[in-house]
Amino acid sequence: MEQHDPDRRHLIATLSAAGLAALALPRDALAQAEPLPLTPSCGAPAAATKRQTEGPFFTPASPAKADLRGDGPGDLLVLSGFVLTRTCRPVPGALLDLWHADSAGAYDNAGFRFRGHQFSDAQGRYQFVTRVPGLYPGRTRHFHVKVRAGNGPVLTTQLYFPEEAANARDGIFDRSLLMRLSPAQGGRLGRFDFVIAA
Ligand SMILES: [Fe+2]
Repeated sequence: MEQHDPDRRHLIATLSAAGLAALALPRDALAQAEPLPLTPSCGAPAAATKRQTEGPFFTPASPAKADLRGDGPGDLLVLSGFVLTRTCRPVPGALLDLWHADSAGAYDNAGFRFRGHQFSDAQGRYQFVTRVPGLYPGRTRHFHVKVRAGNGPVLTTQLYFPEEAANARDGIFDRSLLMRLSPAQGGRLGRFDFVIAA
C-alpha cells in the first residue's frame, strides 16, 4: 500500500511543498511561466479560460477531497495553480471540482474514485494530488474540471498534457488548456491558472 510507505509520504510532502512554493505570489509564479499563450498576463486583461464540453461522465456532489492519490494506481501528479480574475486578482473561496479517468482510462460512474472538490484558499490557490489519467478511445489524456467563483457562472473545461501524441488527433483538444508539467522526484508537477470571466 504505497500511501503508507514512509518514503512515499515524504515524496508527497516534497511534491506538495514544491507545488505551493511555486505559488508564493501570483506575479512571481507568472513570471516563471514558460511562454505558453495560455498563461494570463498581469499587465493586461487576460482571456478567460476557455469552456469545454462536460463530457458524459460528470457526477454531481463529489466529496470534498483534494488528495485523490489513494483512488487507484498510476503516476503521481500534483496539480496546482490559482483562480484569477481577468485582471489577475486571486479569487479566494472558488469551487474547483475535478474528475478524471483512472490509469486504465476508465471513469468511476458508480462512486467517486478520482473525483473530488475543494475551494481555493485565501490567496486564490488550489492544489490537487492525484494520478495521471489513462487514455480512453477517441480522446487524448485530460482532466475535467468545473470552477465557480461565489455565485457566478460555472466554468466547465478540460486540461491537457503537453507532448501527448494524441493531442493532435483529438478534436476537442485546445492548446490554451495545456498544463505546464515539470518532473519532480517520483512524480510530476502540473500547473494551470484558471481565469474567471466575471
Ligand atoms: Fe473525459
